[in-house]
Amino acid sequence: VKDVRISRISSSIRVIPDFPKPGIMFQDITTMLLDPVAFKDTIDLFVERYREKNISVVAGVEARGFIFGPPIALALGAKFVPIRKPNKLPGEVISEEYSLEYGTDIMEMHVGAVQKGERVLVIDDLIATGGTLVAAIKLLERVGADVVECACVIELADLKGRDRLGDKPLFVLVSST
Ligand code: PRP
Repeated sequence: VKDVRISRISSSIRVIPDFPKPGIMFQDITTMLLDPVAFKDTIDLFVERYREKNISVVAGVEARGFIFGPPIALALGAKFVPIRKPNKLPGEVISEEYSLEYGTDIMEMHVGAVQKGERVLVIDDLIATGGTLVAAIKLLERVGADVVECACVIELADLKGRDRLGDKPLFVLVSST
């Protein structure tokens, strides 16, 4: 049976047409953050799923993975590691380029933040084409981490980003078409 919390979470997400450009239906999670029940239910659903999975790192993807990742990390007793857009992290970094609709972008992670063999959960608000999560997984696997699963609040199912993750499991709360 579908968790009743999912419908409240789904209704709390606002869709803004033509943002940031024409044709994009922007999934705005800031309205969920205005509903403390929906926000807490979101965190709880992730924590319930990963509580017994020996996760020692929650890696959050800039920018909205920084909203959902830290409360999950605290509840799991795991560390939080930010994966950021280029030239934001001050220490030594490793970088991965990934493709966008037009052109490419880069994600970076601090060297030394994650140790070989650590069990990692990757968190973001949304998966579209999957390029961002693929870059995050590559960064983590380059340092020998074990990426157990990726988790997002929303999946844009039509874009088939899930397929780009290969056999890496993806868990989502809301699938939107
Ligand atoms: C959005 C979203 C994901 C990414 C997903 O971020 O929050 O991080 O796109 O897209 P993909 O699956 O096609 O890679 P955005 O590009 O808006 O950056 P921001 O979070 O820094 O605003």
